[in-house]
Amino acid sequence: MPKLKQIEFLGIEFTPPCRDELPSLARKNSRWQGSTEIPEMEKSEKRRNLSEGYRRGWMLQNTSLYLKIEQNPLFNEAYEKAQGVDVFSILPKQRMFNLFLMITEGLLGLENQNIIEFGSYKGGTAIFFSVLLNRLSPNSKVFALDTFEGIPTSDSALDLHKKGDFADCSRKILEQRCSELGITNLMIIQGKFQDTFMQVKNMTESFGLVHIDCDTYSSVSFAQEAVWPNLCTGAYLVYDDADSSSCLGATQAMEEMIISHRIHCEQAWPHFVFRKESQNVMKSLTNGIFNDILQNRRQTRLFKTDPVSKDILDSILLQMHGAPSVGNCKPWRIVEIKSPQSLLLLKENYFSANKITKSFLPKGKVSAYNNLNLEGFLSAPIQLSVFTETKPSAGFRQGWATFPDALKHSTISAIHTLWLAAINENLGFAWNSTFYAKKMEEQFARSGTWEFTAHVSIGFPAEKLLRPRHEITGFQEDQKLERYEV
Ligand SMILES: Cc1cc2nc3c(=O)[nH]c(=O)nc-3n(C[C@H](O)[C@H](O)[C@H](O)COP(=O)(O)O)c2cc1C
Repeated sequence: MPKLKQIEFLGIEFTPPCRDELPSLARKNSRWQGSTEIPEMEKSEKRRNLSEGYRRGWMLQNTSLYLKIEQNPLFNEAYEKAQGVDVFSILPKQRMFNLFLMITEGLLGLENQNIIEFGSYKGGTAIFFSVLLNRLSPNSKVFALDTFEGIPTSDSALDLHKKGDFADCSRKILEQRCSELGITNLMIIQGKFQDTFMQVKNMTESFGLVHIDCDTYSSVSFAQEAVWPNLCTGAYLVYDDADSSSCLGATQAMEEMIISHRIHCEQAWPHFVFRKESQNVMKSLTNGIFNDILQNRRQTRLFKTDPVSKDILDSILLQMHGAPSVGNCKPWRIVEIKSPQSLLLLKENYFSANKITKSFLPKGKVSAYNNLNLEGFLSAPIQLSVFTETKPSAGFRQGWATFPDALKHSTISAIHTLWLAAINENLGFAWNSTFYAKKMEEQFARSGTWEFTAHVSIGFPAEKLLRPRHEITGFQEDQKLERYEV
């Protein structure tokens, strides 16, 4: 283990304790007097096993478990081989203990034991994995990915490490060391992960453990997303640098992984460790999100006037633009109603159309109709009128030459996609058709071939409705689904 350098801080020089010493420091300061047994925890529906996470983390930090591991001949063999002169691991020893526990106690029970490491640098940790797998799962492989020329790119706004850091390593020396040690299960893959990962995927179907040790946002971000679909159920996702103070880019990438995959860690010390859930759990998680979005997809009747950022609007419009359309012609055209004159025209159009709408109401319904707060949409900060191009050039009239309504159907599917995308951003959304359509075309369309399809309003909601306001206010009964068989 290389000794840490002297550091000068506020004029004081000190040598930080080597991280190897931390477990004993923790024990000395610990007031823990009770049992070091970690009870078997209730199994959660997720694949992570908190009982295992506590056992590894708590016991390594506060008990003499590490002494037992240090006395283990297999650990010693792997650790010694991993600490050569030019080829060595810079991982603190607690992390080696932790990896040893994951491999010997968990990995062997999984359907796949291949290990992949993103960022192998001097190769010591990869050798550690190879020695262990050689004994415990001789048909499995270790894939060590690195440029062996240092960090390929870094983002100065996020990463402290710079392009070219960690270049003092060599693929050749690592290969030599492997041949000296008789290691044959270590696949050394040189290049940027983006260029080499496909090659690895062609060599194996899945992995049981991934060790992410590549320091920068873009590398960690690519590695975790690329490997995630290829992890077997229960596989270990281990971050080496996401908790390091010099790798906040790696931390951000890990945070994004947590948010986008809704995972929770099994262990937070000495490593962040996550487990791959089974497909069933993934399905129930995504079902949960989908159900939430559908439940919250209600017409917003009351908006806050707070602005919505341009980035959010751009991103939901982009999601909308992925909606299905006849002949893929994407006939929707969006006009943002922004200027005070245009907003006034919109208002006038709505109120005169609403007068006509009201004239159709039965007498007893007028006051309930007024309680629906239908004009609430006018206070939303974003007002978009949506038109359909009725003569789109894209798509060669495929699908609509004989059925022109399909063009409007496509725009409607895009509006619905926009609605769901807005809900996903915790925005409110209102869809309105109470307008004179011809007037909307005259006033806002940019071409004579555009037909008004809908007006939508977007902003932050000032109320949460879980059922249609028409039903809550008693204006209307719940409409039952009509289904027939013939
Ligand atoms: C094609 C279409 C046109 C609509 N037009 C109006 C409208 O002119 N005014 C209005 O207040 N709501 C309008 N809505 C919203 C419906 O009133 C609302 O979806 C319905 O009452 C069910 O409520 P919910 O969306 O909250 O579930 C429209 C919805 C659709 C799909």
